[in-house]
Amino acid sequence: MEQPHSDALVFFGATGDLAYKQIFPALQQMVKQGKLTVPVIGVAKAGWNLDQLKGRAKDSLEKHGGIDDDSWGKLQGLLRYVDGDYADPATFKAVREALGDAKNPAHYLAIPPSLFGKVVEQLVASGCSSGARMIVEKPFGHDLDSARELNRILHSAFDENAIFRIDHYLAKSPVQNMVSFRFSNSIMEALWNRDHVESVQITMAENFGVQGRGSFYDATGAIRDVVQNHVFQVMTNLVMDAPSRNDSESIRDEKVRVLKAIPPIETANLVRGQFRGYLDEKGVAPDSKVETFAALKLRIDSWRWEGVPFYVRAGKDLPVTALEILARFRKPPVTSFTPTQKIQNHLRYRLSPEIGVGISLSAAPTQKGGDRTPIELVASRHPKPEEMEAYVRVLGDAMAGDATLFARQDYVEEAWRIVDPMLKADTPVYPYEPGTWGPKEVDATVKPEGGWHAPQAEEPDDMHVLSLDDC
Ligand code: BG6
Repeated sequence: MEQPHSDALVFFGATGDLAYKQIFPALQQMVKQGKLTVPVIGVAKAGWNLDQLKGRAKDSLEKHGGIDDDSWGKLQGLLRYVDGDYADPATFKAVREALGDAKNPAHYLAIPPSLFGKVVEQLVASGCSSGARMIVEKPFGHDLDSARELNRILHSAFDENAIFRIDHYLAKSPVQNMVSFRFSNSIMEALWNRDHVESVQITMAENFGVQGRGSFYDATGAIRDVVQNHVFQVMTNLVMDAPSRNDSESIRDEKVRVLKAIPPIETANLVRGQFRGYLDEKGVAPDSKVETFAALKLRIDSWRWEGVPFYVRAGKDLPVTALEILARFRKPPVTSFTPTQKIQNHLRYRLSPEIGVGISLSAAPTQKGGDRTPIELVASRHPKPEEMEAYVRVLGDAMAGDATLFARQDYVEEAWRIVDPMLKADTPVYPYEPGTWGPKEVDATVKPEGGWHAPQAEEPDDMHVLSLDDC
């Protein structure tokens, strides 16, 4: 059925950090692409007026990608502003008035999840919810119970197909490309299972700290901030079975099937860390035990993956910013051709900053009597994709009613179920030096056989590089 396009965007949290860094640049881009022609109503409790909001938007654009005069001019004409408390009915009366004739507004909650309930209640009470869509930012909830409660609140006023839970990783083209790469390369699928893969590791590393987001981060931590959502989205794309159809529900069904096969992570398979200096960040409690780093091991009890350990590592203030997957294949059996030191094949999939695929092989010795050496064939594409595109895509799709790139209720709840015991357990948080690969305890507790692979800041030049136009 044809979905009506949203005829207004109501944007809660308009004066916040996410708006400044991501949303205004995305809105300008959407205007430029002709995807945004409807009123954009910013809502916040900041004591501001419309001119102040425009000033903030302008500043945001100058700092994040630059102003496009024509699009900025149009965006200014679309902007409205409502200032007020989210618990105050008067705020929502003003939103209703600003909506004018709009019948299918999209309400975008770029606010802390603790405020979702209040806002939904007020949207319903003020008549702003009828015919509307809800776009909600991650993290969706704080744990399994709160996610269920949020879903209950949202479902009290909106159907599931009117709820769009954002995970901007889903809109990143490298994350999407993983799926087509897997299912359009038959050699890949033939090897992609427990018979051939020994272990898989996923590293999401960032070489910066909390960047002024101390109070958000200190209420969140690495597991909630990126593991339960971004890393799990990457992982489910990496391991799911081929969907029977290409529609959003079939794809989301397969991803949920993966999560259902993952038992809750035991605390014995988790190491949490905190970079030295975190406690001095503004907004961080002086005795905070919040993790800025997590390394964990999980298993997928499915026909395809049973017995293959999956290792995940994510953190702030690590040596590089990169997102990489490394799958090690089982070693060859002993034959007269096998070197004493067996070389293990791997597939390395780099999603960020560049896109790349590396396949390691054992190559002939360069000298007579020498040893075979490991080489890596790499196909990579530079430069990295435009970061901002993800938000342009998610906001555009949500306003058009296309749910493919959004997390469904059952997915979100399954993801929380897996991490819930870790969140509740009072496990130690080990300090680590900024610029290192996390606390030393990782190697004693959560270490893949063959060790952690350390992604490089850039694909180095001295590898055997086979550059393909498209990988
Ligand atoms: C956000 C997290 O969701 O994702 C941040 O809150 C993190 O802490 C960011 O830095 C990473 O996203 P990207 O697109 O910069 O890789």
